[in-house]
Amino acid sequence: MLLSLEGIQKRFGGVTALADGNLGVATGEVHLLLGENGAGKSTLMKIVAGMHNRDGGRMLWNGQEVWLRSPAEAAAIGVAMVHQESLLAPHLTVAENIFLGREERRPFGWVNRRRMAERAARLIEEHRFPLQADWRVDRLSPAGKQLVEICRAIQHGSSLLIFDEPTSSLSDAETEEVFRIVRALRDRKMGVIYITHRLEELRAVGARVTVLRDGRTVHTGPMGEISTDAIIHHMVGREVSSVYQREPLPPGAERLRVEKLNRGGVLTDIGFSLHAGEIVGLGGLVGAGRTELCRALFGIDPIDSGTVHVDGRPVTIRSPREAVAAGIALVTEDRQRTGLALRLPVSQNVALANVVAISPRGVLRQRLESTAVDQYTAKLRIKLASPRQLAGRLSGGNQQKVVIAKWLFRGAGIFLFDEPTRGIDVGAKAEVFEVMDSLARSGAAILMVSSELPELLQVADRILVMRGGRITGELSRGATQQDVMRYATVASQGPDTP
Ligand SMILES: Nc1ncnc2c1ncn2[C@@H]1O[C@H](COP(=O)(O)OP(=O)(O)OP(=O)(O)O)[C@@H](O)[C@H]1O
Ligand SMILES: [Mg+2]
Repeated sequence: MLLSLEGIQKRFGGVTALADGNLGVATGEVHLLLGENGAGKSTLMKIVAGMHNRDGGRMLWNGQEVWLRSPAEAAAIGVAMVHQESLLAPHLTVAENIFLGREERRPFGWVNRRRMAERAARLIEEHRFPLQADWRVDRLSPAGKQLVEICRAIQHGSSLLIFDEPTSSLSDAETEEVFRIVRALRDRKMGVIYITHRLEELRAVGARVTVLRDGRTVHTGPMGEISTDAIIHHMVGREVSSVYQREPLPPGAERLRVEKLNRGGVLTDIGFSLHAGEIVGLGGLVGAGRTELCRALFGIDPIDSGTVHVDGRPVTIRSPREAVAAGIALVTEDRQRTGLALRLPVSQNVALANVVAISPRGVLRQRLESTAVDQYTAKLRIKLASPRQLAGRLSGGNQQKVVIAKWLFRGAGIFLFDEPTRGIDVGAKAEVFEVMDSLARSGAAILMVSSELPELLQVADRILVMRGGRITGELSRGATQQDVMRYATVASQGPDTP
Protein backbone atom coordinates (compact mmCIF):
# COMPACT_ATOMS: atom_id res chain seq x y z
CA MET A 1 0.00 0.00 0.00
CA LEU A 2 1.22 3.42 -1.00
CA LEU A 3 -1.47 5.34 0.86
CA SER A 4 -4.02 4.27 3.48
CA LEU A 5 -6.61 6.57 4.97
CA GLU A 6 -8.40 5.23 8.03
CA GLY A 7 -11.36 6.88 9.72
CA ILE A 8 -10.47 10.39 8.56
CA GLN A 9 -12.50 13.17 10.16
CA LYS A 10 -12.72 16.82 9.23
CA ARG A 11 -14.99 19.62 10.42
CA PHE A 12 -15.24 23.20 9.18
CA GLY A 13 -16.87 25.17 11.97
CA GLY A 14 -20.24 23.49 12.38
CA VAL A 15 -20.00 21.50 9.13
CA THR A 16 -18.80 17.92 9.25
CA ALA A 17 -17.18 17.40 5.86
CA LEU A 18 -15.72 13.99 6.75
CA ALA A 19 -16.92 11.63 9.46
CA ASP A 20 -15.25 8.38 8.47
CA GLY A 21 -13.14 8.56 5.31
CA ASN A 22 -11.38 5.32 4.34
CA LEU A 23 -9.40 4.62 1.20
CA GLY A 24 -6.32 2.64 0.19
CA VAL A 25 -4.20 2.93 -2.94
CA ALA A 26 -1.37 0.64 -3.98
CA THR A 27 1.46 1.51 -6.35
CA GLY A 28 0.45 0.98 -9.98
CA GLU A 29 -3.24 1.31 -9.11
CA VAL A 30 -5.84 3.70 -10.50
CA HIS A 31 -8.47 4.29 -7.85
CA LEU A 32 -11.77 6.06 -8.54
CA LEU A 33 -13.24 8.25 -5.82
CA LEU A 34 -16.95 8.89 -6.27
CA GLY A 35 -19.77 10.57 -4.39
CA GLU A 36 -22.46 13.22 -4.63
CA ASN A 37 -21.69 16.94 -4.55
CA GLY A 38 -20.56 17.80 -1.05
CA ALA A 39 -19.84 14.18 -0.09
CA GLY A 40 -16.30 15.13 0.99
CA LYS A 41 -14.15 13.92 -1.93
CA SER A 42 -12.15 17.10 -2.45
CA THR A 43 -11.75 17.57 1.29
CA LEU A 44 -10.35 14.05 1.74
CA MET A 45 -7.89 14.60 -1.08
CA LYS A 46 -6.85 18.03 0.19
CA ILE A 47 -5.91 16.34 3.45
CA VAL A 48 -3.66 13.98 1.48
CA ALA A 49 -2.22 16.95 -0.44
CA GLY A 50 -1.36 18.83 2.75
CA MET A 51 -3.92 21.61 2.27
CA HIS A 52 -6.08 20.74 5.26
CA ASN A 53 -5.24 19.23 8.64
CA ARG A 54 -7.32 16.26 9.67
CA ASP A 55 -9.25 16.36 12.95
CA GLY A 56 -9.06 12.60 13.45
CA GLY A 57 -8.11 9.29 11.85
CA ARG A 58 -4.85 8.03 10.40
CA MET A 59 -2.99 8.64 7.16
CA LEU A 60 -0.33 6.05 6.36
CA TRP A 61 2.24 6.66 3.64
CA ASN A 62 4.18 3.51 2.73
CA GLY A 63 3.02 2.09 6.05
CA GLN A 64 4.18 5.03 8.20
CA GLU A 65 1.76 7.46 9.82
CA VAL A 66 2.28 11.01 8.53
CA TRP A 67 1.01 14.49 9.39
CA LEU A 68 1.38 16.91 6.51
CA ARG A 69 1.37 20.55 7.46
CA SER A 70 1.54 22.14 4.00
CA PRO A 71 1.30 21.40 0.28
CA ALA A 72 5.09 21.69 0.17
CA GLU A 73 5.43 18.84 2.66
CA ALA A 74 3.01 16.72 0.61
CA ALA A 75 5.00 17.48 -2.54
CA ALA A 76 8.21 16.54 -0.74
CA ILE A 77 6.93 13.02 0.05
CA GLY A 78 5.63 12.65 -3.54
CA VAL A 79 1.98 13.74 -3.65
CA ALA A 80 0.70 15.96 -6.48
CA MET A 81 -2.88 17.08 -7.08
CA VAL A 82 -4.78 18.44 -10.08
CA HIS A 83 -7.39 20.67 -8.50
CA GLN A 84 -11.05 20.93 -9.29
CA GLU A 85 -10.99 24.72 -9.08
CA SER A 86 -8.01 26.39 -10.65
CA LEU A 87 -5.34 27.39 -8.14
CA LEU A 88 -3.09 28.86 -10.82
CA ALA A 89 -1.57 32.33 -10.64
CA PRO A 90 -3.64 34.26 -13.18
CA HIS A 91 -1.06 36.88 -14.16
CA LEU A 92 1.74 34.44 -14.88
CA THR A 93 2.35 32.49 -18.06
CA VAL A 94 1.58 28.85 -18.65
CA ALA A 95 5.28 27.94 -18.24
CA GLU A 96 5.63 29.98 -15.05
CA ASN A 97 2.59 28.27 -13.57
CA ILE A 98 3.86 24.81 -14.43
CA PHE A 99 7.09 25.50 -12.53
CA LEU A 100 5.72 27.84 -9.86
CA GLY A 101 7.46 27.23 -6.55
CA ARG A 102 9.86 24.83 -8.23
CA GLU A 103 11.64 27.16 -10.63
CA GLU A 104 14.94 26.17 -12.13
CA ARG A 105 17.59 28.43 -10.71
CA ARG A 106 20.91 29.50 -12.08
CA PRO A 107 23.86 30.22 -9.80
CA PHE A 108 23.08 33.32 -7.65
CA GLY A 109 19.41 32.31 -7.57
CA TRP A 110 18.29 33.73 -10.92
CA VAL A 111 15.31 31.94 -12.38
CA ASN A 112 16.21 30.34 -15.68
CA ARG A 113 13.20 31.47 -17.69
CA ARG A 114 14.37 30.27 -21.05
CA ARG A 115 14.90 26.69 -19.89
CA MET A 116 11.57 26.72 -18.08
CA ALA A 117 9.80 27.89 -21.23
CA GLU A 118 11.55 25.22 -23.29
CA ARG A 119 10.67 22.43 -20.91
CA ALA A 120 7.07 23.60 -20.72
CA ALA A 121 6.85 23.77 -24.51
CA ARG A 122 8.16 20.22 -24.81
CA LEU A 123 5.65 18.94 -22.28
CA ILE A 124 2.75 20.68 -24.06
CA GLU A 125 3.88 19.35 -27.41
CA GLU A 126 4.32 15.80 -26.14
CA HIS A 127 0.66 15.73 -25.08
CA ARG A 128 -0.58 17.82 -28.02
CA PHE A 129 -2.40 20.20 -25.67
CA PRO A 130 -3.82 23.35 -27.31
CA LEU A 131 -1.62 25.66 -25.20
CA GLN A 132 1.47 27.82 -25.63
CA ALA A 133 4.12 28.17 -22.95
CA ASP A 134 4.06 31.99 -23.08
CA TRP A 135 0.28 32.51 -22.86
CA ARG A 136 -1.04 34.22 -19.77
CA VAL A 137 -3.20 31.96 -17.65
CA ASP A 138 -6.00 34.48 -17.07
CA ARG A 139 -6.73 34.42 -20.80
CA LEU A 140 -7.35 30.68 -20.80
CA SER A 141 -10.72 28.92 -20.85
CA PRO A 142 -11.56 26.55 -17.96
CA ALA A 143 -10.37 23.69 -20.18
CA GLY A 144 -7.03 25.38 -20.80
CA LYS A 145 -6.53 25.95 -17.08
CA GLN A 146 -7.27 22.31 -16.37
CA LEU A 147 -4.60 21.28 -18.86
CA VAL A 148 -2.06 23.58 -17.19
CA GLU A 149 -2.91 22.04 -13.81
CA ILE A 150 -2.33 18.60 -15.32
CA CYS A 151 1.06 19.62 -16.79
CA ARG A 152 2.02 21.05 -13.43
CA ALA A 153 1.15 17.86 -11.58
CA ILE A 154 2.80 15.39 -13.95
CA GLN A 155 5.96 17.45 -14.26
CA HIS A 156 7.45 16.75 -10.88
CA GLY A 157 8.12 13.02 -10.47
CA SER A 158 5.56 12.29 -7.75
CA SER A 159 4.51 8.82 -6.65
CA LEU A 160 0.82 9.60 -6.07
CA LEU A 161 -1.23 11.76 -8.41
CA ILE A 162 -4.67 12.98 -7.49
CA PHE A 163 -6.99 14.16 -10.26
CA ASP A 164 -10.03 16.07 -8.99
CA GLU A 165 -12.42 16.10 -11.97
CA PRO A 166 -9.67 16.67 -14.53
CA THR A 167 -11.94 16.35 -17.56
CA SER A 168 -15.01 18.31 -16.47
CA SER A 169 -14.52 20.94 -19.19
CA LEU A 170 -12.36 19.07 -21.68
CA SER A 171 -13.21 17.94 -25.20
CA ASP A 172 -13.22 14.28 -26.14
CA ALA A 173 -9.75 14.40 -27.66
CA GLU A 174 -8.31 16.05 -24.56
CA THR A 175 -10.14 13.61 -22.32
CA GLU A 176 -8.59 10.71 -24.24
CA GLU A 177 -5.19 12.27 -23.69
CA VAL A 178 -5.87 12.50 -19.95
CA PHE A 179 -6.78 8.79 -19.92
CA ARG A 180 -3.56 8.05 -21.78
CA ILE A 181 -1.60 10.02 -19.18
CA VAL A 182 -3.34 8.15 -16.36
CA ARG A 183 -2.49 4.78 -17.91
CA ALA A 184 1.12 5.80 -18.48
CA LEU A 185 1.43 6.88 -14.83
CA ARG A 186 -0.03 3.57 -13.71
CA ASP A 187 2.42 1.65 -15.92
CA ARG A 188 5.23 3.62 -14.27
CA LYS A 189 3.99 2.13 -10.97
CA MET A 190 2.57 5.33 -9.61
CA GLY A 191 -0.65 5.45 -7.65
CA VAL A 192 -3.52 7.50 -9.09
CA ILE A 193 -6.72 8.70 -7.43
CA TYR A 194 -9.31 9.94 -9.89
CA ILE A 195 -12.49 11.86 -9.04
CA THR A 196 -15.19 12.23 -11.69
CA HIS A 197 -18.91 12.77 -12.17
CA ARG A 198 -18.88 11.44 -15.71
CA LEU A 199 -20.16 7.92 -15.45
CA GLU A 200 -18.92 6.99 -18.93
CA GLU A 201 -15.40 7.50 -17.64
CA LEU A 202 -15.59 4.96 -14.85
CA ARG A 203 -14.62 1.86 -16.79
CA ALA A 204 -12.11 3.72 -18.94
CA VAL A 205 -9.74 4.50 -16.10
CA GLY A 206 -10.42 2.85 -12.78
CA ALA A 207 -9.39 -0.52 -11.36
CA ARG A 208 -10.88 0.00 -7.90
CA VAL A 209 -13.51 2.34 -6.58
CA THR A 210 -14.35 4.03 -3.29
CA VAL A 211 -17.69 5.74 -2.76
CA LEU A 212 -18.20 8.50 -0.18
CA ARG A 213 -21.61 9.51 1.08
CA ASP A 214 -22.09 12.31 3.62
CA GLY A 215 -18.45 12.15 4.63
CA ARG A 216 -18.31 8.38 5.10
CA THR A 217 -16.87 5.63 2.95
CA VAL A 218 -19.87 3.46 2.10
CA HIS A 219 -18.27 1.14 -0.44
CA THR A 220 -14.83 0.16 -1.62
CA GLY A 221 -13.92 -2.63 -4.03
CA PRO A 222 -12.83 -3.64 -7.54
CA MET A 223 -14.56 -1.98 -10.53
CA GLY A 224 -14.96 -5.27 -12.39
CA GLU A 225 -17.50 -6.61 -9.91
CA ILE A 226 -19.91 -3.72 -9.66
CA SER A 227 -22.52 -2.30 -12.04
CA THR A 228 -22.85 1.42 -12.69
CA ASP A 229 -26.35 1.36 -11.21
CA ALA A 230 -25.02 -0.19 -8.01
CA ILE A 231 -22.36 2.53 -7.80
CA ILE A 232 -25.01 5.22 -8.26
CA HIS A 233 -27.07 3.59 -5.54
CA HIS A 234 -24.11 3.75 -3.15
CA MET A 235 -23.55 7.40 -4.05
CA VAL A 236 -27.05 8.70 -3.54
CA GLY A 237 -28.53 6.11 -1.20
CA ARG A 238 -31.72 5.91 -3.27
CA GLU A 239 -32.83 4.82 -6.72
CA VAL A 240 -31.88 7.33 -9.41
CA SER A 241 -32.01 6.71 -13.10
CA SER A 242 -28.98 7.81 -15.07
CA VAL A 243 -31.31 8.48 -18.00
CA TYR A 244 -33.43 11.63 -18.06
CA GLN A 245 -36.54 11.74 -20.21
CA ARG A 246 -38.15 15.03 -21.08
CA GLU A 247 -41.72 15.24 -22.28
CA PRO A 248 -41.49 17.69 -25.22
CA LEU A 249 -43.83 20.69 -25.36
CA PRO A 250 -45.33 22.22 -28.47
CA PRO A 251 -43.16 25.32 -29.03
CA GLY A 252 -44.86 28.67 -28.37
CA ALA A 253 -44.14 32.18 -29.61
CA GLU A 254 -40.69 33.15 -30.83
CA ARG A 255 -38.74 34.70 -27.94
CA LEU A 256 -35.29 35.17 -29.44
CA ARG A 257 -34.27 35.63 -33.04
CA VAL A 258 -30.65 36.10 -34.09
CA GLU A 259 -29.79 37.01 -37.70
CA LYS A 260 -26.49 37.32 -39.55
CA LEU A 261 -24.50 37.78 -36.39
CA ASN A 262 -20.76 38.20 -36.91
CA ARG A 263 -17.82 38.72 -34.62
CA GLY A 264 -14.40 38.99 -36.29
CA GLY A 265 -13.25 35.49 -37.11
CA VAL A 266 -14.96 33.95 -34.08
CA LEU A 267 -18.63 33.91 -35.09
CA THR A 268 -19.74 33.92 -38.71
CA ASP A 269 -23.23 34.48 -40.03
CA ILE A 270 -25.03 33.04 -37.02
CA GLY A 271 -28.79 32.78 -37.36
CA PHE A 272 -31.33 30.86 -35.26
CA SER A 273 -34.39 31.38 -33.11
CA LEU A 274 -35.66 30.12 -29.77
CA HIS A 275 -39.33 29.65 -28.93
CA ALA A 276 -41.17 29.67 -25.63
CA GLY A 277 -41.16 26.20 -24.10
CA GLU A 278 -38.15 25.01 -26.06
CA ILE A 279 -34.85 23.65 -24.86
CA VAL A 280 -32.45 23.95 -27.78
CA GLY A 281 -29.12 22.19 -27.49
CA LEU A 282 -25.93 23.72 -28.84
CA GLY A 283 -23.38 21.03 -29.68
CA GLY A 284 -19.89 21.06 -31.13
CA LEU A 285 -16.32 20.55 -30.11
CA VAL A 286 -14.42 22.74 -27.69
CA GLY A 287 -13.38 25.82 -29.66
CA ALA A 288 -16.31 25.62 -32.10
CA GLY A 289 -17.61 28.98 -30.84
CA ARG A 290 -20.41 27.91 -28.51
CA THR A 291 -19.19 29.82 -25.46
CA GLU A 292 -18.30 32.76 -27.72
CA LEU A 293 -21.88 32.82 -29.02
CA CYS A 294 -23.28 32.89 -25.47
CA ARG A 295 -20.86 35.64 -24.50
CA ALA A 296 -21.79 37.74 -27.54
CA LEU A 297 -25.53 37.34 -26.91
CA PHE A 298 -25.01 38.32 -23.29
CA GLY A 299 -23.06 41.46 -24.24
CA ILE A 300 -19.71 40.39 -22.79
CA ASP A 301 -17.96 40.45 -26.19
CA PRO A 302 -18.93 43.03 -28.83
CA ILE A 303 -20.41 41.96 -32.15
CA ASP A 304 -19.46 43.44 -35.53
CA SER A 305 -22.82 43.06 -37.21
CA GLY A 306 -26.12 41.25 -36.97
CA THR A 307 -29.50 41.71 -35.38
CA VAL A 308 -31.12 40.29 -32.27
CA HIS A 309 -34.87 40.34 -31.62
CA VAL A 310 -36.40 39.59 -28.24
CA ASP A 311 -40.14 38.89 -28.29
CA GLY A 312 -40.35 40.39 -31.76
CA ARG A 313 -38.63 43.66 -30.86
CA PRO A 314 -35.12 44.56 -32.02
CA VAL A 315 -32.65 44.99 -29.14
CA THR A 316 -29.11 46.31 -28.92
CA ILE A 317 -26.93 44.46 -26.47
CA ARG A 318 -23.55 46.03 -25.74
CA SER A 319 -23.13 44.95 -22.14
CA PRO A 320 -24.39 42.32 -19.71
CA ARG A 321 -26.53 45.04 -18.16
CA GLU A 322 -28.35 45.54 -21.45
CA ALA A 323 -28.70 41.78 -21.90
CA VAL A 324 -30.26 41.48 -18.45
CA ALA A 325 -32.60 44.37 -19.22
CA ALA A 326 -33.67 42.51 -22.37
CA GLY A 327 -34.52 39.48 -20.23
CA ILE A 328 -31.52 37.30 -21.06
CA ALA A 329 -29.66 35.24 -18.46
CA LEU A 330 -26.31 33.52 -18.83
CA VAL A 331 -25.47 30.58 -16.60
CA THR A 332 -21.77 30.21 -17.21
CA GLU A 333 -19.42 27.28 -16.89
CA ASP A 334 -16.69 29.50 -15.48
CA ARG A 335 -18.19 29.88 -12.05
CA GLN A 336 -15.03 31.32 -10.56
CA ARG A 337 -14.60 34.17 -12.99
CA THR A 338 -18.03 35.18 -14.15
CA GLY A 339 -20.47 33.14 -12.11
CA LEU A 340 -19.98 33.80 -8.42
CA ALA A 341 -18.64 36.23 -5.86
CA LEU A 342 -16.69 33.63 -3.91
CA ARG A 343 -16.03 35.90 -0.94
CA LEU A 344 -19.70 36.71 -0.40
CA PRO A 345 -22.29 34.55 1.33
CA VAL A 346 -24.46 32.31 -0.81
CA SER A 347 -27.52 34.37 0.16
CA GLN A 348 -26.01 37.54 -1.26
CA ASN A 349 -24.89 35.80 -4.42
CA VAL A 350 -28.47 34.81 -5.07
CA ALA A 351 -29.89 38.12 -3.93
CA LEU A 352 -27.51 40.31 -5.92
CA ALA A 353 -28.93 38.87 -9.10
CA ASN A 354 -32.25 40.40 -8.29
CA VAL A 355 -31.70 43.44 -6.16
CA VAL A 356 -34.78 45.00 -7.71
CA ALA A 357 -37.14 42.27 -6.55
CA ILE A 358 -36.04 42.24 -2.95
CA SER A 359 -35.25 45.90 -2.38
CA PRO A 360 -38.14 48.13 -3.35
CA ARG A 361 -36.32 51.12 -1.88
CA GLY A 362 -32.81 50.07 -2.74
CA VAL A 363 -32.10 48.36 0.57
CA LEU A 364 -31.52 44.62 0.66
CA ARG A 365 -34.32 43.19 2.74
CA GLN A 366 -32.94 40.36 4.81
CA ARG A 367 -36.12 38.39 5.20
CA LEU A 368 -37.08 38.34 1.53
CA GLU A 369 -33.51 37.51 0.71
CA SER A 370 -33.40 34.46 2.94
CA THR A 371 -36.85 33.17 1.86
CA ALA A 372 -35.72 33.29 -1.74
CA VAL A 373 -32.48 31.55 -0.92
CA ASP A 374 -34.29 28.82 1.04
CA GLN A 375 -36.66 28.24 -1.83
CA TYR A 376 -33.98 27.80 -4.45
CA THR A 377 -31.50 25.89 -2.33
CA ALA A 378 -34.26 23.38 -1.61
CA LYS A 379 -35.30 23.16 -5.25
CA LEU A 380 -31.77 22.42 -6.42
CA ARG A 381 -30.73 20.48 -3.31
CA ILE A 382 -27.80 22.78 -2.63
CA LYS A 383 -25.82 21.48 0.33
CA LEU A 384 -25.23 24.44 2.64
CA ALA A 385 -24.44 24.85 6.33
CA SER A 386 -26.40 28.11 6.26
CA PRO A 387 -27.20 30.83 3.71
CA ARG A 388 -24.44 32.86 5.40
CA GLN A 389 -21.83 30.35 4.20
CA LEU A 390 -19.34 31.91 1.78
CA ALA A 391 -19.86 30.73 -1.79
CA GLY A 392 -16.16 29.91 -2.03
CA ARG A 393 -16.52 27.35 0.77
CA LEU A 394 -19.07 25.22 -1.05
CA SER A 395 -18.09 22.05 -2.87
CA GLY A 396 -17.50 22.51 -6.60
CA GLY A 397 -20.82 21.08 -7.72
CA ASN A 398 -22.77 23.07 -5.17
CA GLN A 399 -21.16 26.28 -6.43
CA GLN A 400 -22.48 25.47 -9.87
CA LYS A 401 -25.96 25.05 -8.43
CA VAL A 402 -25.75 28.49 -6.78
CA VAL A 403 -24.97 30.03 -10.18
CA ILE A 404 -28.16 28.46 -11.49
CA ALA A 405 -30.20 29.51 -8.43
CA LYS A 406 -29.07 33.08 -8.91
CA TRP A 407 -30.60 33.30 -12.36
CA LEU A 408 -33.73 31.40 -11.45
CA PHE A 409 -34.34 34.00 -8.80
CA ARG A 410 -33.89 36.81 -11.24
CA GLY A 411 -36.50 35.27 -13.49
CA ALA A 412 -35.36 35.92 -17.05
CA GLY A 413 -37.28 34.85 -20.16
CA ILE A 414 -34.33 33.63 -22.20
CA PHE A 415 -31.73 31.42 -20.60
CA LEU A 416 -28.32 30.64 -22.03
CA PHE A 417 -26.91 27.68 -20.12
CA ASP A 418 -23.22 27.11 -20.86
CA GLU A 419 -22.30 23.61 -19.61
CA PRO A 420 -24.84 23.82 -16.76
CA THR A 421 -24.10 20.37 -15.37
CA ARG A 422 -20.34 20.68 -15.27
CA GLY A 423 -19.19 18.97 -12.07
CA ILE A 424 -22.73 18.14 -10.95
CA ASP A 425 -23.46 14.64 -9.64
CA VAL A 426 -25.91 12.20 -11.25
CA GLY A 427 -28.68 12.75 -8.75
CA ALA A 428 -28.51 16.53 -9.05
CA LYS A 429 -28.24 16.50 -12.85
CA ALA A 430 -31.78 15.23 -13.08
CA GLU A 431 -32.83 18.07 -10.78
CA VAL A 432 -31.09 20.67 -12.94
CA PHE A 433 -32.94 19.28 -15.96
CA GLU A 434 -36.22 19.38 -14.02
CA VAL A 435 -35.60 23.03 -13.29
CA MET A 436 -34.86 23.74 -16.96
CA ASP A 437 -37.99 21.87 -17.93
CA SER A 438 -40.16 23.86 -15.53
CA LEU A 439 -38.63 27.11 -16.81
CA ALA A 440 -39.55 26.03 -20.33
CA ARG A 441 -43.05 25.09 -19.20
CA SER A 442 -43.52 28.53 -17.71
CA GLY A 443 -42.74 30.09 -21.10
CA ALA A 444 -38.98 30.61 -21.05
CA ALA A 445 -36.77 29.74 -24.02
CA ILE A 446 -33.55 27.91 -23.31
CA LEU A 447 -30.28 27.45 -25.16
CA MET A 448 -28.10 24.81 -23.57
CA VAL A 449 -24.45 24.24 -24.44
CA SER A 450 -23.18 20.82 -23.45
CA SER A 451 -20.16 18.78 -24.37
CA GLU A 452 -21.77 15.65 -23.02
CA LEU A 453 -23.56 14.28 -26.03
CA PRO A 454 -25.80 11.81 -24.18
CA GLU A 455 -27.28 14.59 -22.06
CA LEU A 456 -27.71 16.89 -25.04
CA LEU A 457 -29.62 14.18 -26.89
CA GLN A 458 -31.79 13.37 -23.87
CA VAL A 459 -32.75 16.90 -22.91
CA ALA A 460 -32.88 19.06 -26.05
CA ASP A 461 -35.93 19.40 -28.30
CA ARG A 462 -33.62 20.15 -31.20
CA ILE A 463 -29.88 20.58 -31.52
CA LEU A 464 -27.83 23.20 -33.33
CA VAL A 465 -24.28 22.14 -34.06
CA MET A 466 -21.38 24.58 -34.43
CA ARG A 467 -18.03 24.22 -36.06
CA GLY A 468 -15.44 26.91 -36.73
CA GLY A 469 -17.71 29.71 -35.54
CA ARG A 470 -20.65 28.76 -37.79
CA ILE A 471 -23.84 26.81 -37.25
CA THR A 472 -23.30 23.81 -39.50
CA GLY A 473 -26.40 21.79 -38.81
CA GLU A 474 -29.72 21.46 -37.04
CA LEU A 475 -31.03 18.14 -35.76
CA SER A 476 -34.43 17.23 -34.42
CA ARG A 477 -35.29 14.91 -31.53
CA GLY A 478 -34.16 11.33 -32.14
CA ALA A 479 -30.79 12.32 -33.61
CA THR A 480 -27.77 10.22 -32.69
CA GLN A 481 -24.29 11.02 -31.39
CA GLN A 482 -22.94 10.27 -34.87
CA ASP A 483 -25.26 12.89 -36.39
CA VAL A 484 -23.95 15.55 -34.04
CA MET A 485 -20.34 14.54 -34.56
CA ARG A 486 -20.74 14.66 -38.33
CA TYR A 487 -21.77 18.33 -38.27
CA ALA A 488 -19.22 19.08 -35.55
CA THR A 489 -16.27 17.75 -37.53
CA VAL A 490 -16.93 17.43 -41.27
CA ALA A 491 -17.30 20.40 -43.61
CA SER A 492 -21.01 20.73 -44.35
CA GLN A 493 -22.60 21.19 -47.74
CA GLY A 494 -25.16 23.51 -46.21
CA PRO A 495 -26.03 27.09 -47.10
CA ASP A 496 -22.97 28.40 -45.29
CA THR A 497 -20.60 27.13 -48.00
CA PRO A 498 -19.85 30.03 -50.31
N1 LIG B 1 -13.05 25.51 3.48
C1 LIG B 1 -14.28 25.10 3.81
N2 LIG B 1 -15.00 25.75 4.73
C2 LIG B 1 -16.24 25.33 5.09
N3 LIG B 1 -16.85 24.26 4.57
C3 LIG B 1 -16.19 23.56 3.63
C4 LIG B 1 -14.88 23.94 3.20
N4 LIG B 1 -14.48 23.07 2.25
C5 LIG B 1 -15.49 22.17 2.11
N5 LIG B 1 -16.51 22.47 2.95
C6 LIG B 1 -17.77 21.70 3.08
O1 LIG B 1 -17.44 20.34 3.22
C7 LIG B 1 -18.37 19.51 2.52
C8 LIG B 1 -17.63 18.59 1.57
O2 LIG B 1 -17.09 19.36 0.50
P1 LIG B 1 -16.17 18.76 -0.64
O3 LIG B 1 -15.66 19.94 -1.40
O4 LIG B 1 -15.17 17.85 -0.06
O5 LIG B 1 -17.23 17.95 -1.52
P2 LIG B 1 -17.01 17.12 -2.87
O6 LIG B 1 -17.34 15.70 -2.57
O7 LIG B 1 -15.67 17.41 -3.43
O8 LIG B 1 -18.18 17.69 -3.80
P3 LIG B 1 -18.20 18.09 -5.39
O9 LIG B 1 -18.53 16.86 -6.15
O10 LIG B 1 -19.33 19.07 -5.48
O11 LIG B 1 -16.88 18.69 -5.72
C9 LIG B 1 -19.36 20.46 1.84
O12 LIG B 1 -20.49 20.54 2.64
C10 LIG B 1 -18.62 21.77 1.82
O13 LIG B 1 -19.50 22.88 1.85
MG1 LIG C 1 -15.01 18.47 -5.04
